[in-house]
Amino acid sequence: MTAFPAIVATEPGPASLQELTDDQLPDGDVTVAVRWSSLNYKDGLAVTGKGKIIRSYPMVCGIDLAGTVEASDSSSWQVGDEVVVTGWGLSETAPGGYTQRQRLRSEWLVGRPDGLTLQQTMAVGTAGLTSMLCVIALERAGVSPDAEGEVLVTGAGGGVGSVAVAVLAKLGYRVAASTGRAETHDFLRSLGATTIVDREELATAGKPLDKERWVGAVDTVGSQTLATVLAQTRYGGAVAACGLVGGGDLPTTVLPFILRGVSLLGVDSVMCPTPQRVEAWQRLGRDLPTAVLDELTTIEPMARVPELAEDIVAGRTRGRVVIDTAT
Ligand SMILES: NC(=O)c1ccc[n+]([C@@H]2O[C@H](COP(=O)([O-])OP(=O)(O)OC[C@H]3O[C@@H](n4cnc5c(N)ncnc54)[C@H](OP(=O)(O)O)[C@@H]3O)[C@@H](O)[C@H]2O)c1
Repeated sequence: MTAFPAIVATEPGPASLQELTDDQLPDGDVTVAVRWSSLNYKDGLAVTGKGKIIRSYPMVCGIDLAGTVEASDSSSWQVGDEVVVTGWGLSETAPGGYTQRQRLRSEWLVGRPDGLTLQQTMAVGTAGLTSMLCVIALERAGVSPDAEGEVLVTGAGGGVGSVAVAVLAKLGYRVAASTGRAETHDFLRSLGATTIVDREELATAGKPLDKERWVGAVDTVGSQTLATVLAQTRYGGAVAACGLVGGGDLPTTVLPFILRGVSLLGVDSVMCPTPQRVEAWQRLGRDLPTAVLDELTTIEPMARVPELAEDIVAGRTRGRVVIDTAT
């Protein structure tokens, strides 16, 4: 039986590069030859062991994967189909994408969307899918590129943030990007941001109702940052909340909601139903310029995942990182 490499956590603590064989694959009706995976904040927490992500051991890490169907007992998928899987508990309750082969439940698969290569789907990954779900949520709440004013993206230098900046700019929104790193300013401007906001400005408690600045926002930070963003959102605006890099609390009041009609929109990409995923992937294929996506992407070998996981947890990662499972 041929062995293949994978990043595996055998017990609570850091995961490492190990060898697996087919008899270690889980049950499932589709086997995928995994070509690419990606690095997300949650992967950082799982691989370093710094966050309680993994629910059972041993666990193949990696919340995303893209590859080609190698064997299928499902009528929905044929050998050779190019597919993408994100979320659904990969690296939590089911073995994930840092491997060259994985067996999965057919209902988790989405076909590679038009307009993106398999590698580009992982440049998008869970982070980018989440960005697009946030944009769609803002659109449904009535936030439009025609509105006078800016849409704010927090944690803009990271994966979710940078893809959100790129998509919003392409759609014609005026985008303000909040970052804590001066070295990302040119990068964020190259993605289409027209205003840069210092992260510290939002991390400090202000008035419960502050000066109205944003027509909408994508927040990846949570805690005081989200509270400040809500207090600065214009009458009738909306904020899509998807992250907690700054903390899981929310020290706000009801005033933005009851006096300005501000909406707080929760966004989850992990258990998101398939029709919404398919819509978001189609939109990404259309509304995310691939030249910009390539610009915000770094490709790294699977062997470096333990090191890269430390970087993303420490907030040192810029844009999106694609993991090449073949190297
Ligand atoms: N709801 C969902 O389904 C879903 C899906 C994907 C991700 N998420 C969440 O979204 C968040 C971002 O994920 P990601 O993959 O984009 O991570 P990431 O690439 O590490 O980006 C996070 C960015 O946040 C900023 N940041 C880091 N620490 C911070 C702090 N203490 N205070 C304020 N800002 C800080 C940094 O940007 P700057 O240096 O530019 O400030 C960093 O690059 C995470 O909390 C993740 O769990 C949620």
